[in-house]
Amino acid sequence: MTMDVAIVGGTGEEGFGLALRLTKAGVGVVIGSRSEERGAAAATRAAEALGVGANVVGTTNELAVSQTDTVIVTVPFEGQAETYRTIKQHLRAGAVVMDATSPLATAVGGRAWHVVRPWHGSAAEQAAAIVGEGARMTAGFHTISARALMDVERPMESDVLVCGDDQEAKTIVGALVERIPGLRWVDCGLLSQARIAETMTALLVSINRQYGIHDSGFRITGRDDWGGSKASD
Ligand SMILES: NC(=O)c1ccc[n+]([C@@H]2O[C@H](COP(=O)([O-])OP(=O)(O)OC[C@H]3O[C@@H](n4cnc5c(N)ncnc54)[C@H](OP(=O)(O)O)[C@@H]3O)[C@@H](O)[C@H]2O)c1
Repeated sequence: MTMDVAIVGGTGEEGFGLALRLTKAGVGVVIGSRSEERGAAAATRAAEALGVGANVVGTTNELAVSQTDTVIVTVPFEGQAETYRTIKQHLRAGAVVMDATSPLATAVGGRAWHVVRPWHGSAAEQAAAIVGEGARMTAGFHTISARALMDVERPMESDVLVCGDDQEAKTIVGALVERIPGLRWVDCGLLSQARIAETMTALLVSINRQYGIHDSGFRITGRDDWGGSKASD
């Protein structure tokens, strides 16, 4: 079985939602976990939810990233640095990594609608500092609700804000995003723009609290006039 994307922390809400949506779109997904059993169990759950022909398996984070050229990382900020130290030597050379971490203050016992400031400026830049030249780091999906992703029968209706220094890597991530019906990708510029994009999760948590909902998101207006991202032209 050929796998297209590894999802590190794919047993959790955001990663599992992405696993469901991507598998449903025909992408081969390998779900990663700190535990082989939890990874395998999540893949079984996904396959059962999606039915016959679902191309999804589960294993450890290390084995998962060694099997694909594209990696999505969906772990809480408090475990992000350690996760990258664990997977670093297992990443394929030149792998495209899409980090979805938001540095929510819950990492230090605070509120989910507050953030902390990572030393490197953003969680994505912290990840890039850890993996070094070995991988092409991008950041995205901070504003895509896990609940919305997991509700696979309901169409998505959001823009995915993608940041990164490597234009080709962003285009690869963007193409993956648009395999999911109803999602569009927006090129937000350099990886350092993740300093802003990551904090937008906290804003959505606050909006969700105000309205008693779980799935608010962002659409960037004016997009039709752009004629598509320059990055993908
Ligand atoms: N939930 C959302 O709606 C949403 C939306 C946008 C962005 N995000 C971001 O996406 C990331 C994941 O969110 P989530 O809600 O899916 O989180 P989560 O369910 O709490 O955790 C995801 C997975 O990460 C692993 N994990 C948990 N604690 C860890 C630690 N200390 N060290 C290493 N791995 C750990 C667990 O997998 P194993 O135990 O199987 O290893 C867990 O299933 C976060 O950074 C969050 O800010 C979430």
